[in-house]
Amino acid sequence: MKRDSFGSRFGALVAMAGSAVGLGNLWRFPYLVGENGGAAFIIVYIAMSFLICLPIFISEFVIGRRSQKNAYAAFRDLSGGSAWRWVGLMTVIVPLIVLSYYSVIGGWSIDYMLKSFSFSFTGESSRSTFSTMFTDFVSSPWSSLAAHTAFLLATTLIVVVGIKDGIERFSKVMMPILFFIVLGIAVYSLTLPGAGSGVDYLFRPDFSKIDAKAFAAALGQAFFSLSLGFGTIMTYASYVSKKENIMTQSVATAVSDLMFAMIAGVAIMPAVFAFGLDPQSGPGLVFETLPYVFGQMPAGGFVAILFFVALLVAALTSSISMLEVAVAFLVEERNMSRKAACFVLFAVCWVIGALCALSFGPLSDVQIAGRSIFDFFDNLSSNILMTLGSLLTVLFVGWRLKKTDIYDEFTNGGSISANAKMFGVLWFLIRYVAPVAIIAVFVSGLIG
Ligand code: PFF
Repeated sequence: MKRDSFGSRFGALVAMAGSAVGLGNLWRFPYLVGENGGAAFIIVYIAMSFLICLPIFISEFVIGRRSQKNAYAAFRDLSGGSAWRWVGLMTVIVPLIVLSYYSVIGGWSIDYMLKSFSFSFTGESSRSTFSTMFTDFVSSPWSSLAAHTAFLLATTLIVVVGIKDGIERFSKVMMPILFFIVLGIAVYSLTLPGAGSGVDYLFRPDFSKIDAKAFAAALGQAFFSLSLGFGTIMTYASYVSKKENIMTQSVATAVSDLMFAMIAGVAIMPAVFAFGLDPQSGPGLVFETLPYVFGQMPAGGFVAILFFVALLVAALTSSISMLEVAVAFLVEERNMSRKAACFVLFAVCWVIGALCALSFGPLSDVQIAGRSIFDFFDNLSSNILMTLGSLLTVLFVGWRLKKTDIYDEFTNGGSISANAKMFGVLWFLIRYVAPVAIIAVFVSGLIG
């Protein structure tokens, strides 16, 4: 049977950008910037994104497109059947863990989107009402399980349709809508009286906050935001035509991801400051502070609808990419039909996600390695396994694969001269800079 593939350059690009742009951009990036020195952090983040993460992104792209296989088979076949296949297997399993807890947060966005439809935030004058609303929701087993189920089901229903007709079509329609919504909210947010202090918070550089921890936070965020180390980019790349230019596609994805993060910062922070609030980190910002802000601002009921629709869309275009990694594996390595693979994976992620969802309620006392179930899975996958996956990926490309093969894939057989000229620099970044930087930043983040 012919392997499915993306139907167009734009389709491939929006699907990759869709994977990259997600909850990480809309809520994690803005508060990390605020906490870690504003523009100073942004400078570190941009440097990390382009010097370390872009070479890793390209490495994943090369692995996927060269092999035209799922992540496990890509590592196996490109290494001539060696033990590297276990790294491939790891990159198939990790996104499933992320998907499981991501789906819990995706479920919260569905619930809040529905709340916004009935203008539930308007007219509530006390900030604490929103904390109670959120705590009541997440701690109630039925509502959070229902929301998680709905989100995971939506993800599965898009993926089951396939690459071109499911993932690509959804991303092509939704990504432009997402972009205009976030941009529109950003412009509106800037017009609010008092917005200036939010802009200040985001962009005033404070270099005194740049320490080892800030570097670690920037790198971790850049990995997560670009979906690196999870097998996702590799899998999507395996559906990209051999005619496409890996460099331009990768740079375009990284730039869109960065742009979305910055615009999200401008959409959120000025509005928060305009109402005299402090941005909190974590779920509190999006699910408590923002609803309060929407309740206060002129036409906030509509802004809330747009915001939660955007949050849901951003989460979905990312979650489908996580699911596809394992679907491709089961279809190609276990001869399952796409439907059966989706069904099995839905069941697996539903169970892990349900445990995560319940860890805010009935299972809140259960601790694994000193953390709640949700935090345990989040930390394990997004901090440890993601970093390990990215490190092993660059080592694989830089030290295991043949340089001539990488050159061949990156330059489309030598035909893209701009890429040929850049190859020396890229090779140096992949072979030396990226691995050393990942280890250094990871270790110093642990110590510092
Ligand atoms: N990049 C996504 C975000 O910023 O929310 C998260 C993500 C997507 C992580 C896909 C991992 C992944 F495989």
